[in-house]
Amino acid sequence: MTATTLGIGISVLVSIRPGDAADTKIIDATSFRCVTSMTPVRQFYVDNLRGDLAATVAAANSPTGAVYPPGSVIQLIPGEAMVKRDKGFNAVTHDWEFFELDVSKTGTQIRKRGFADVVNRFGGNGFACHIAARPEWDLVCENDHGCAPIPVTRVMIRALQRTDPRCNNPPPSREDAEALRQLQELLKPRE
Ligand code: HEM
Repeated sequence: MTATTLGIGISVLVSIRPGDAADTKIIDATSFRCVTSMTPVRQFYVDNLRGDLAATVAAANSPTGAVYPPGSVIQLIPGEAMVKRDKGFNAVTHDWEFFELDVSKTGTQIRKRGFADVVNRFGGNGFACHIAARPEWDLVCENDHGCAPIPVTRVMIRALQRTDPRCNNPPPSREDAEALRQLQELLKPRE
């Protein structure tokens, strides 16, 4: 065995993070779809990229909290998603990968992805907010798990869900149009 092949061998070994071998599921823009076609759980939607949807729904419905299984996808709004990678993938974020998505009639594009460093288009760091959830809730905030509240209301969240451009939605209702207008106002940079 030449020095070079040995060198390459070692570098590959070093680059494999725990769980990588198992976690070969490619997560790309096609992993995300019309949010209302996913499985609704209270105010958010879930999916599982490994086909283990029942386990993801069970975790989401656990009254005492649970660790979500690998492959779990959670979305509250079309433009943001949390994906559970394999155990050991990233201990800091409890193996959650944070995604910011651009969605349009033509589909999804990944705008940003990462772990503790993803700052969304509103200037907020996803991990920094979600880590405030009490440990039993596995970084899932809802409005009673210990995270600081966000100014975006559930009415606005519903309107965003119902107007996801990837879905064949009817024209927005007057209520949804009004909620989206108020959201735009809320997001306007303050002078
Ligand atoms: C790319 C960044 C982000 C992603 C991918 C993301 C993802 C999510 C997801 C999937 C949910 C629904 C599940 C849950 O309740 O935890 C959610 C809800 C929530 N997120 Fe984030 N988030 C991000 C950034 C933030 C930031 C910056 C904050 C704080 C300013 C935040 C605070 C919250 C809160 C409080 C909820 C619960 C809202 C409710 O149930 O009404 N998130 N987020």
